[in-house]
Amino acid sequence: MCGIVGYVGKAVAPDNKVSPSHRPQEVVLEGLRRLEYRGYDSAGIALAAPGMTELASAKKAGKLTNLKNEILQNPLPEATAAIGHTRWATHGGPTDRNAHPHLADNGRLAVIHNGIIENFAELKAELVEAGVTFLSDTDTEVAAHIIARCYKGTEDLTEAMRLAVGRFRGTFTLLAVAAEDPTTVVGARHDSPLVVGLGDGENFLGSDVAAFVAYTKDAMELEQDQIVTITPTSVNVINFDGTPGKGKTYAVDWDAEAGDKGGFASYMDKEIHEQPQAIADTLRGRVDANGALQLDEVSIDESVFRAIDQIIVIACGTAAYAGQVARYAIEHWCRIPVEIELAHEFRYRDPIVNEKTLVVAISQSGETMDTLMAVRHAREQGAKVLSIVNAQGSTIPRESDAVLYTHAGPEIAVASTKAFTAQITAAYLLGMYLAQVRGNKFPDEIDSLLSALKAIPAKVQTVIERGEYVKATARSMKSADSVLFLGRHVGYPVAMEGALKLKELAYIHAEGFAAGELKHGPIALIDEGLPVFIIVPSPRSRTGLHSKVVSNIQEVRARGARTLVIAEDGDDAVRQFADEIFWIPNCPTLMQPLLAAIPLQIFAMELATTKGLDVDQPRNLAKSVTVE
Ligand code: F6R
Repeated sequence: MCGIVGYVGKAVAPDNKVSPSHRPQEVVLEGLRRLEYRGYDSAGIALAAPGMTELASAKKAGKLTNLKNEILQNPLPEATAAIGHTRWATHGGPTDRNAHPHLADNGRLAVIHNGIIENFAELKAELVEAGVTFLSDTDTEVAAHIIARCYKGTEDLTEAMRLAVGRFRGTFTLLAVAAEDPTTVVGARHDSPLVVGLGDGENFLGSDVAAFVAYTKDAMELEQDQIVTITPTSVNVINFDGTPGKGKTYAVDWDAEAGDKGGFASYMDKEIHEQPQAIADTLRGRVDANGALQLDEVSIDESVFRAIDQIIVIACGTAAYAGQVARYAIEHWCRIPVEIELAHEFRYRDPIVNEKTLVVAISQSGETMDTLMAVRHAREQGAKVLSIVNAQGSTIPRESDAVLYTHAGPEIAVASTKAFTAQITAAYLLGMYLAQVRGNKFPDEIDSLLSALKAIPAKVQTVIERGEYVKATARSMKSADSVLFLGRHVGYPVAMEGALKLKELAYIHAEGFAAGELKHGPIALIDEGLPVFIIVPSPRSRTGLHSKVVSNIQEVRARGARTLVIAEDGDDAVRQFADEIFWIPNCPTLMQPLLAAIPLQIFAMELATTKGLDVDQPRNLAKSVTVE
């Protein structure tokens, strides 16, 4: 939520003083373009340069393009430092006046913010009492005035930030720039993301590496409760208590082009097409010289894995559906009970968690606040936490005991696609790893599971290549106002994922049900022409569920539903009951979600496109949910 960019650099005049240029503005606007998936209610920028009596700034409600048009009409001056923000509104509506940056001290100090300052009302009352006039409804403007007041007292922006953060409760990343100090940007983080980009004669701050990956791949992770001060030639980290701090440097493992559309109509389309690669990359390099499976960064002893007696998967949204799929595999392979819990519910129900519990946190962004809080709660209760995360350098892996990365590359479209299939893949690897460590499976059994997984990317490619028929069906359903999705076993979470995709992209009422639940109520919804997707298990599946699902198709069809069936190649039994069939290649039962999800993604994308909607940036949403 909210994208944040900070920049200082780069041009140096012959007298060795930093001289203004348009680079700060360009870097920040480019960073905002790449971060826009984090929020698109408004965008804004503030610039500092030597000699300015007040900062230059511009901000506009709506997407970044509105800000760019504003700057075209009213160009901004050259600068030496800049901060920029793309907003997902929390306090105050998505208007020009609530857009960040927020200025204080007569325009001499600017602040941008991600998060929520929970005690903003009491701080605001204090400031109003002291005569401050507010120009917005945001909690951020309160922070700007407090930092400005501390700055007046100290004339040191870093110390001002340090004193100010001591007064804030809640979660925040804050960046500040001041007219008096035009080659410095100061950032602070508390339970909210901030990374540093290390340049040559320039330095960067960003909510994630997308903010600066076009300029540098050298990055630095910060810990919680740290303040970072960047100038063109230095990066200095301190802790909130004023003691020196240290960041961990790393190299970003993806190219700036990975964050571009690469000729596709949307990021979502591109990311759907990247799934064969994302799955293959997640599987790559997992077997050591002795043929044993290995994870990424594990500080959990194998004896702990052997001793665990339950697994709790915590995640939100699509990531939770990936966890729900994985539960079937992990229980089957490892014979350990697996619970799946929405992260935001987890810690409020006093869960029974102890040192024999392995908590698996699944998150694309690695920053989802609900999931992070659940991770902390689990660790406080003595559980070990293993996270499955896509974004390198993010918070959840850093706060976990072990991490298994999904190597899906940057996912920019707000609706998750390749992260979902990569998460299932990674969770399956974890299941196999546990089966190996706990001795539930012989090495040759693990080999054969791994081989079945390795065959999946080519099959996903086949499903994608069959996408045109799915798209044509979606185009014919422009006027649908409700769609149901049914599945059993691993098909059930896929049904819910299909419904989620349709809701968030096409703004259509959609629900996913366990097909067996139909007769217990939902069948009353079936009406003439109601579209119902049904995910059919393989006829070869030993679960015995194929015939049950075929009966469910007949039940809804008999009541007038239009049946849209996802079935395995050659499944002749379903043909006669399907109005439309989307064929997927044969594969083992547990692997089927990796294929069955694809037509549902394509369907939702195409239906939204047909309705003229923005598939990459659906209304009201943001990619990374960093507030609770
Ligand atoms: C839906 C979607 C969300 C995320 C959820 C968790 O398409 O993308 O439901 O899956 O917000 O996000 P992460 O995985 O970043 O923790």
